[in-house]
Amino acid sequence: MSEKPIQEMGLREIRELARARMPHEAWKHFMGAAESRATFRRNQRALQRFLFRQRIFHDITDPDAAVELFGYRLSTPAFVAPVGSFSLIGETAERDVAHGAGRAGTMLFVSHAAVSSMRDWKQATSAPIVFMGYLTRGREDVLRCAKLAEEVGFAAVGLTMDTIQPVKIGDRIPLSRVDGKPRIGHPASPKDIEWLKREVALPMVVKGIMGAEDARVAVEAGADAVVVSNHGGRILDYNRAAVEALPEVVEVVGGKVPVLLDSGVRNGGDIVKASALGAKAVLVGRPVAWGVAAAGVAGVERVIRLFTDELKRVMIMTGVARIGDITSAIIMRDGEGRAKL
Ligand SMILES: Cc1cc2nc3c(=O)[nH]c(=O)nc-3n(C[C@H](O)[C@H](O)[C@H](O)COP(=O)(O)O)c2cc1C
Repeated sequence: MSEKPIQEMGLREIRELARARMPHEAWKHFMGAAESRATFRRNQRALQRFLFRQRIFHDITDPDAAVELFGYRLSTPAFVAPVGSFSLIGETAERDVAHGAGRAGTMLFVSHAAVSSMRDWKQATSAPIVFMGYLTRGREDVLRCAKLAEEVGFAAVGLTMDTIQPVKIGDRIPLSRVDGKPRIGHPASPKDIEWLKREVALPMVVKGIMGAEDARVAVEAGADAVVVSNHGGRILDYNRAAVEALPEVVEVVGGKVPVLLDSGVRNGGDIVKASALGAKAVLVGRPVAWGVAAAGVAGVERVIRLFTDELKRVMIMTGVARIGDITSAIIMRDGEGRAKL
């Protein structure tokens, strides 16, 4: 049986191909989420609960999916999320993700926990790159990487603020190790944001915001963008879905800095929903991992292009010409707007 070309595959097929090609332990690691997986499931379900208002009387035939961030123009608002463990998929996975992101015209977020050096990332891609540091690796190492990122021409740097204690993925606590020692916790503080801002002259991103109060603190401390994220449901069981936290973050941020969202984005329609609720762009985690596991560079490019094509189709069917024109007027909650029977 000849295999369908990756360019013709949908996300479900790509996911199944990835499952078949990925080492089993890696598959389990990627699909893992905190404890009972309630947050993981909720992320997608909460997005599914929004519906579109269809419009047909307009002349939009070729909507523009481009967005601008930190002075870079990207051809899509579907960015690549920072993932520390792409290398579990294969030796070339990090390089392939970087290359695929460049080919798809998107922005690449890279994790402090990844194997590649800042120089490796830069050489592997034409995409603008954001370095996301982990304070658990110590301020010194965050600073070393952030300075290198600045030197080699990254677009931005940032901090992932997730957990102090090691998390329980399913029934196991994976003890991530740094230099052979268990990763030590680090409480998040606005002082860390102020510190990194002073040290590095690049825009500063804070990832892991799940409510108005933390958003206010991050922006007051100098964040140039925040990512509303529960890290794909990997940190806290029975957390809210990221999209449920988005409106109050957008409100408190009040347009001062861009707000991004990740966790549970699985198609272009989800991106339109996030935009309608005020997100500038989204980050995509697991689907990019499936893409690289299924077909390397081409798989990553396919996932981003698939999401972008879907996004454009929804824009046409809801009558919006540009990403910036998407407003909450084009969505409703399931149950609202039902005709009286
Ligand atoms: C296997 C795996 C490893 C991850 N590693 C990191 C990391 O090192 N740093 C980080 O900020 N987020 C990390 N994340 C979270 C992603 O950046 C992103 O928030 C999440 O995957 C988005 O949800 P999604 O997978 O539903 O798209 C990781 C996620 C997965 C699945």
